Amino acid sequence: MVVGKGFTPLVVHEIRQEADRVASFELARPDGGPLPPWEPGAHVDVLLGDDLVRQYSLCSAPTDSTWRIAVLHEEVSRGGSTWLHERIRAGDTLGVGAPRNNFALDLGGQRYVFVAGGIGITPLVPMVAAADAAGKDWTLLYLGTNGSRMAFTEVLRAYGSKVVLHRDSDSGVIDLESALDRLGAADAAVYACGPAGLLAAIEGYAARHEGCRVVLERFTADPDGTRAREGDSAFVVETSDGTEIEVGADESILDALHRTGIPALSSCQEGICGTCETTVLAGVPDHRDQLLSEEEREAGDTMMICVSRCEGDRLVLDI
Ligand code: FES
Repeated sequence: MVVGKGFTPLVVHEIRQEADRVASFELARPDGGPLPPWEPGAHVDVLLGDDLVRQYSLCSAPTDSTWRIAVLHEEVSRGGSTWLHERIRAGDTLGVGAPRNNFALDLGGQRYVFVAGGIGITPLVPMVAAADAAGKDWTLLYLGTNGSRMAFTEVLRAYGSKVVLHRDSDSGVIDLESALDRLGAADAAVYACGPAGLLAAIEGYAARHEGCRVVLERFTADPDGTRAREGDSAFVVETSDGTEIEVGADESILDALHRTGIPALSSCQEGICGTCETTVLAGVPDHRDQLLSEEEREAGDTMMICVSRCEGDRLVLDI
């Protein structure tokens, strides 16, 4: 198999049905050697076909010699979940990137509340294991519309009352504010992964409780939007070989590159995954992603070209 730059061919060693419409894929080196360890919260880019890239959280143990990702077969798929569920079989090879972590667990605190919505459980499985092994005071609230679609419930059952399962089909829609209060989230580090509405509600809760520190892993971008805005103007991107590309007021750098036939990898195209991260050689980026820290924004030496633009009229990028 030919895989793109930055991707390693890994063999799908095993496919396991974890719940209704959720399958996990165990990835192994073709020579059987161990894969590098990773930190809880990490994800990998998976190359699906020639240019479709999707991110999947690692959900096995960080020191296992193989990696495992779990994938929901979405009813309305953007291509990735259907491709994996319907085309990939044990023994096939996938191009997989090195683990990256935009959702790192800081074990320096004392009290942790983890909140998962649906397939958002995947990065939280290794996180709760790490918190438990470190002797931290923690609770997991795992929300699902229907119990048959909630993966890893067997593994989580071993933690007893530290794991609170809520199924809408049994108990109706949760009163999240009360549930978070009961779990002590007002004075805890809250790590959450799930649908945008759930994460927005948790952000709102944190805004009302000074002692609540929230860390989120998003599936979709902030609905306020990160793309072109009224008042945006055109600018020029120069590539490292001196090629100049005009980026229109209403298009992204990524779109402009593709329009001119310059290949560039992307996945979410919403500034939340990091696949399109590009080194800035000159010029000042107008950052609109939801990944870079304040320090990284100020340093200005890297940017997400799917959403971010230019403060001024020219950027030179390492493309
Ligand atoms: S493609 Fe995901 S951040 Fe740009």
